[in-house]
Amino acid sequence: MSGEQSVARVLLFTGKGGVGKTTTAAATAIELSRRGHRVVVTSADPAHSLSDATGTALGAEPLEVLPGCWAQELNALERMEESWGEVRTWLVELFRWAGVAGLEAEELAILPGLEELVALMEIGRLVRGGDHDVVVVDCAPTAETVRLLSMPDLLDWFFRRAFGMTRRVSRAVAPVLRTVSDVPVAPVEVFDALEGLHAELVDVRSLLTDPAVTSARIVATPESMVLSEARRTLTYLSLFGYHTDAVVLNRLLPTGSADPFLQAMATGQARQVELADAEFAPMAVLRAPHAPGEVTGTDALAAHGLALWEDADPAQDLCPGRAMAVDYTEGNPVLVLNLPNVESHEVDLTAVDGDLAVAVGPYRRNLALPAGLRGKQVRSARVERGELRIEFCALGAQ
Ligand SMILES: Nc1ncnc2c1ncn2[C@@H]1O[C@H](COP(=O)(O)OP(=O)(O)OP(=O)(O)O)[C@@H](O)[C@H]1O
Ligand SMILES: [Mg+2]
Repeated sequence: MSGEQSVARVLLFTGKGGVGKTTTAAATAIELSRRGHRVVVTSADPAHSLSDATGTALGAEPLEVLPGCWAQELNALERMEESWGEVRTWLVELFRWAGVAGLEAEELAILPGLEELVALMEIGRLVRGGDHDVVVVDCAPTAETVRLLSMPDLLDWFFRRAFGMTRRVSRAVAPVLRTVSDVPVAPVEVFDALEGLHAELVDVRSLLTDPAVTSARIVATPESMVLSEARRTLTYLSLFGYHTDAVVLNRLLPTGSADPFLQAMATGQARQVELADAEFAPMAVLRAPHAPGEVTGTDALAAHGLALWEDADPAQDLCPGRAMAVDYTEGNPVLVLNLPNVESHEVDLTAVDGDLAVAVGPYRRNLALPAGLRGKQVRSARVERGELRIEFCALGAQ
């Protein structure tokens, strides 16, 4: 996090629907500003609810809701207009050629992934913008968030394969193609725009997967089904190289109530909290109390943030020392990927043209191998103590 350019710390909050992600993200941002940081909380969930949580009508530009604490709800369409001019023009032409006439920008926005892409770029700009020390991201529920965070890898792969080649073809063939067919061959400016986009995306990925910059935090309520999803979320975030350092257990009921119903609920929760503590270690497992009413408005959020972060500093990496690494101590190089909560038979490895595809459940990551491992082959792979260990050897060797 040093260097000439200032890079903000990034905190991503995700989890199952309705568990309190927006509340936790907003409360954390306010608590950070109380501690003297310049913070912006931004929403990567198209179903924005930061306005409802803070009780302030927010827009696409960060608004200072409390001293040192800004909030914003990104308008993907507006941003697309600004940064996508050339690409959009080309897409419109492409669609027209395919028989879809009269496409408007609004209609393009429904293209799968485009909204996520814009959200990612916006996060990147906030992180590098220099106006804030911490960028807090209120993410959508788990599945959408994993989709969002898997985008940089997927698109990187796509750009490298599709556009790396197309560009060469286009430069040579474009004049001929223009005369013999109606295919809209993208002009050089479009490729430049796409390459710019690609470079920005690669940069965002490097920021979001750098544990010194970004921590993902999973919000959950102390219930077995919610915690099961939290475990899977941790696996999928790890698969895509994101560093999760904490779980926030929200809506904890007071214990010792005279009301037997409340007491039974609290006892059930306590069991789940204990399990979560053990299962998610060495990550921090934080607790936030169940408020008597909704946690809305900056006062209620500030009180919530204070209680949640009583014993920990939200700006810190709460579980340092985990990232993808190559281990050379066993003779052959071993690629070590943090991949908790799965067993060997649940992981599927496929070699694709020098890359390695790692699939777990419904997700698949095309892993760009570190330079030292390219041109080698996989000798063995196993999951051990929450790590996927892939041993490589020279081609042809066994
Ligand atoms: N600890 C708490 N005590 C009482 N109410 C809470 C608590 N945490 C969240 N709430 C309330 O629960 C509701 C849902 O919270 P929130 O919007 O933060 O969840 P979310 O996970 O962001 O939901 P979504 O998946 O829809 O984005 C809100 O009305 C919020 O005020
Ligand atoms: Mg929300």
